[in-house]
Amino acid sequence: MLKDKLGREFHYLRLSITDVCNFKCNYCLPDGYQCDSERNFLSVEEIRRLVTGFARLGTSKIRITGGEPALRKDLPLIIKTCKSIPGINKVAITTNGYNLEHKIEQWVEAGLDALNVSIDSLKPDVFRLITGHDKLTSILRGLDKAHQLGIKDIKINAVLMKAFNASEFTDYLNWMRDKPYTLRFIELMQTGDNLNFFKQNHVKGEDLKKQLLDDSWSSVIRKKDAGPAQEFFHPDYQGRIGLIMPYSKDFCQTCNRLRISALAKLHLCLFTEEGIDFRPLLQSDEQLDEFTTSLQQALRQKTASHLLQDGETGITKHLAMIGG
Ligand code: GTP
Ligand code: 5AD
Ligand code: SF4
Repeated sequence: MLKDKLGREFHYLRLSITDVCNFKCNYCLPDGYQCDSERNFLSVEEIRRLVTGFARLGTSKIRITGGEPALRKDLPLIIKTCKSIPGINKVAITTNGYNLEHKIEQWVEAGLDALNVSIDSLKPDVFRLITGHDKLTSILRGLDKAHQLGIKDIKINAVLMKAFNASEFTDYLNWMRDKPYTLRFIELMQTGDNLNFFKQNHVKGEDLKKQLLDDSWSSVIRKKDAGPAQEFFHPDYQGRIGLIMPYSKDFCQTCNRLRISALAKLHLCLFTEEGIDFRPLLQSDEQLDEFTTSLQQALRQKTASHLLQDGETGITKHLAMIGG
């Protein structure tokens, strides 16, 4: 069992399979993906060993992230491999959606259970301005396709920013009225390279919460294994709204996330710079016991919270590096 010293249990792993991304989201990789060294991401065999180790310690859900995970040609094999490991009952992916329309069938065939897609604007020109790509209509078709193929758990992520899309809040709600999805507004996070942008564009999640409550949305009672979002429902809307507010008080109290980077570093928090390198323990099946023991030890280092003081926003690397 993976449990930390505060009694928080971890059944969920965010697994990055590449830090390369083809989008240039203005809050994440405005200059596009920059790489000065050859990257040698985890192989499918290493992923199999890694997930087997986690599953032995009680992990039941894997969320595949990046960068953009769909840039790996072996993504269907990775999904299939994760899904085939005893104990893993849910395999999810977080994608920018650029190839969703054409790939979703393969992913579902490989065993995909859940899908999170970033849609930072519902206006094609603003979408292009934010991401550098003219893909909105294709992504929306991809979402419909995923739904038709039977994916029940679909979430849309949007980062609202003052100078770009904050005015679309009501448009998003209207769009969601008849969609069985959860739409999450993620509060813009300060990262290593977006300080000025952050100051100019940060929209407080608490302000959005107030608007929702004023508009007769009600809070969903959190389940024990719920994710980081506070969720809201409304009788006139099929879908739900989620707010991810990493700077709010108590955000970390229920943290149940662990992250593995595409180079096998364990990040105990999104705000920890240096990960713990587990790659040397993924080189043969014989190392499995040593791997699981080391993982349990590493977990003891997990701190109670991200240690940011009130009003502090901290610095994490841009999220493409550690899988968001
Ligand atoms: P599911 O519950 O499986 O849908 O996971 P999720 O909501 O974590 O998935 P997703 O990949 O869509 O993540 C959304 C974003 O929420 C992440 O990219 C982060 O920006 C933020 N987030 C998720 N977990 C944490 C966390 O532990 N700490 C912080 N600060 N932010 C997080
Ligand atoms: N602040 C908030 N969310 C971010 N994401 C990437 N960078 C940031 C940031 N600086 C989000 C993306 C995507 C999710 C995986 O992470 O919008 O939906
Ligand atoms: Fe955008 Fe995600 Fe790529 Fe960052 S990793 S540029 S948020 S699509």
